[in-house]
Amino acid sequence: MENKTKPNGTAKLEVKGKSYDLPVLSGTHGPDVIDIRRVYGETDHFTFDPGFTSTASCESQITFIDGDKGILLHRGYPIDQLAEKSTFPEVCHLILHGELPSAVELQDFCDEIKQHTLLHTQLDRFFDGFRRDSHPMAMLTGIVGGMASFYPGAMDSEDLEERRLGSIRLIAKMPTICARILKYNLGQRFVDPRNQYDYASNFMNMCFSVVAEDYEINPKLAKAMDRFFILHADHEQNASTSTVRLAASSGAHPFAAVAAGVACLWGPSHGGANEACLNMLHEIGTANRIPEFIEKAKDKDDPFRLMGFGHRVYKNYDPRAKVMRATAHEVLDELDLRDTPILKVAMELERIALEDEYFIEKKLYPNVDFYSGIILDALGFPKQMFTVLFALARTVGWVAQLNEMLDDPTQKIGRPRQIYTGHAMRDYVAIDKR
Ligand code: SDX
Repeated sequence: MENKTKPNGTAKLEVKGKSYDLPVLSGTHGPDVIDIRRVYGETDHFTFDPGFTSTASCESQITFIDGDKGILLHRGYPIDQLAEKSTFPEVCHLILHGELPSAVELQDFCDEIKQHTLLHTQLDRFFDGFRRDSHPMAMLTGIVGGMASFYPGAMDSEDLEERRLGSIRLIAKMPTICARILKYNLGQRFVDPRNQYDYASNFMNMCFSVVAEDYEINPKLAKAMDRFFILHADHEQNASTSTVRLAASSGAHPFAAVAAGVACLWGPSHGGANEACLNMLHEIGTANRIPEFIEKAKDKDDPFRLMGFGHRVYKNYDPRAKVMRATAHEVLDELDLRDTPILKVAMELERIALEDEYFIEKKLYPNVDFYSGIILDALGFPKQMFTVLFALARTVGWVAQLNEMLDDPTQKIGRPRQIYTGHAMRDYVAIDKR
């Protein structure tokens, strides 16, 4: 990766009467950065930024987000255009390689993915160790990490062909693993990938077909699945992507680093919000109970938060949520579920929240998770599978960001510091003196 930041003046820092000029760097879009790499060495002070609310952890050329304007670009292309005109495999190629593929490049990419969708038969035995009612994210964390044992060559990040193959394997095998997790929970036989299907259709066939009868792919529903994957593909330096980068920065196996990303995504503040949001909508149940929940969300003493609302970066409508809302209507119309109460509750909750002073003042808007659960529920996925589907789609983002980190000449093992406020140094006290 070629570093492309441009010097843009300096920022003055004064510490204990001494002043320092820190370089300011500009990128293509977004805020400039103050390069603080020398601050500790020159001032003997750390900077302090719990939660990294003001910290750029790296230079990246993959995804750009403008939270105030509600803009999301993948390699420069707006998410709404990609969702409308592209396909998930094409977006995978774009995110991995930086350019939209030609027709031949796309066909070659899809063909190579299809050559790696099968799992080693030993991997199927990993499932037997789990309880049937295991949370799907627990199984996904374990199996993705365990898959590292089948591809030891991928540990060598200097071997570019091994690294390329490892990326393809993760993107190709995630649908097979995720479908198997669903089948394992259901107690049904695993369904293997079929190369005559496209990526999204293949996944749905592995999830919903049963040995007793053929599964008929509904093209409109498969398109909705594909669009769901596009909308979740990558999202800058979110918590799980930062976890993957940090894990891989030590030289860990890329599959183990992605497993760490899966683990991080599980939380209800991050990828677990889609499952939590649908639970919340069911708990609300009817529109007349919405004000009660809005008040709970505003109550500082109540830990309840409106799931699917708010975002660390977006202080405007999440552009993905707009597309997700339209897709929810399409799917419910196709399945003749347009009168489903859950959609009415979601629409009314969104309307009320967006007019409420608290949400306006704190710039809380629906995020990618607000409508996604309604779509997945209508497609037939159990709620516990929602975050697994998020992880399936986000694998390409994790892989691309991991590869970019490995190729960045400025990157080294991530090792933040702290401000220590524990006990001052003290001597050991013998037990009979305590
Ligand atoms: C994803 O980072 C990414 O890009 C993530 C993601 C991706 O694609 O990778 O976009 C995917 O994780 C989307 C977010 C899914 N999470 C949820 O929907 C859970 C509900 N949302 C919140 O928990 C919260 O909004 C966060 C965690 C998403 C963001 O929280 P921040 O940035 O840490 O903001 P904050 O917690 O400091 O909130 C600011 C204020 C607080 O009030 P004050 O302390 O200033 O008085 O807004 C309030 C919060 O209490 N607030 C909410 C709220 N979200 C924030 N109040 C009620 N309901 C909410 N949902």
